[in-house]
Amino acid sequence: MLLKTIKSSIPALALLASAFLLNPVSADTLQGQAQSLFKPLPAQMPGAENDSEKLISLGKKLYHDPRLSINDSQSCASCHNVMTGGDDGETTSPGAKGKRGDRNAPTVLNAGLQFKQFWDGRSADLIEQAKGPILNPIEMGMPSPEAVVEKLSATEYPELFEQALGKKSLSYDNIALAIAAFERTLITKDRFDNYLKGDPQALSEAEKRGLKSFINTGCAGCHNGALLGGQSYQKLGVLKPYKNTADTGLAKVTGETSQKYWFKVPTLRNIALTAPYFHDGQVATLEEAVKTMAELQLGKELSKEEISDISTFLNSLSDIKSGTQVSASNHH
Ligand code: HEC
Ligand code: HEC
Repeated sequence: MLLKTIKSSIPALALLASAFLLNPVSADTLQGQAQSLFKPLPAQMPGAENDSEKLISLGKKLYHDPRLSINDSQSCASCHNVMTGGDDGETTSPGAKGKRGDRNAPTVLNAGLQFKQFWDGRSADLIEQAKGPILNPIEMGMPSPEAVVEKLSATEYPELFEQALGKKSLSYDNIALAIAAFERTLITKDRFDNYLKGDPQALSEAEKRGLKSFINTGCAGCHNGALLGGQSYQKLGVLKPYKNTADTGLAKVTGETSQKYWFKVPTLRNIALTAPYFHDGQVATLEEAVKTMAELQLGKELSKEEISDISTFLNSLSDIKSGTQVSASNHH
């Protein structure tokens, strides 16, 4: 009798589960609130429609090829390892000759979904961005676009470019085009998206508390949309100045003093995988980053529990494929 009741309720349960997956949850629940502020990552990046398999694999090879640097020591992957969060875990990155720049390497994962590239947004898109580091004297250090093309001309690349883009297509512009095509494949998958798509069990209780604090504290005012950031500039130090005032951000690019300390609001996808934090890499832990943000941007002193809950929530934004993902059940 009991068995029969359980059996007959299984289809009903399945129906209930599929209802969660299909329907947006009402706006007065936490899940509904989250659905209105954030969006799941898209399945494809804009511009990826015409990327052929050959172009993507050419781009992947170039991205990982140290021959793009002056002394064959460094590739894009040296500072942006796509297997470990898309960055290098360094405060600032040593270049081909060991010299460091003054900014922290951001993740390349999902980067093509941002409105601009770089901390100060000085590049419009991935193609423009990829032309920078190869020639940057303290990054890959090649002397000129012509020198890069000449170096690759003596290798297997002319043939690979011909296969991907046609005869005599090895050029500096096409190197950037191919690398960008590879980068457009770097879309991550995480449990927060499963939650946004309708599975209420995708987040643990602590993560839901953290999500609630994240929203109620005001973080989502700047960190929102599919990337929880990546779509606007904001001043760093709205209510209290940041400890390091050396880098003036957007003002350095535009010369506008009113834009002093404006930076692109960074994406928080995969944020638990990309310590240390901030444009200068001077904030060591996620907890310290959360605490600092609340103080400087919102004038709020968060409790230890709130800091811990928000950081726990931010861990649900880590790529499942990257292996460091903690499953929701471990937090219950
Ligand atoms: C020596 C380390 C280093 C190398 C090599 C390097 N990068 Fe970067 N990358 C950085 C740093 C540091 C920044 C941030 C600089 C800034 O904002 O001014 C950055 C920024 C980026 C961004 C912008 C991300 C964002 O969120 O704004 C992308 C995309 C990127 N790099 C891709 C590449 C590609 C492609 C290559 C190879 C052609 C490459 N990088 C080589 C260190 C490096
Ligand atoms: C007024 C806009 C604004 C608000 C509100 C805000 N942030 Fe930020 N956030 C930024 C900007 C801009 C940066 C980049 C700082 C830099 O360039 O050093 C940033 C950086 C971060 C970083 C470091 C990202 C990285 O890649 O290094 C984290 C983590 C973060 N914010 C979390 C939060 C949390 C949690 C809250 C709420 C307590 C919050 N933010 C509120 C604008 C904001």
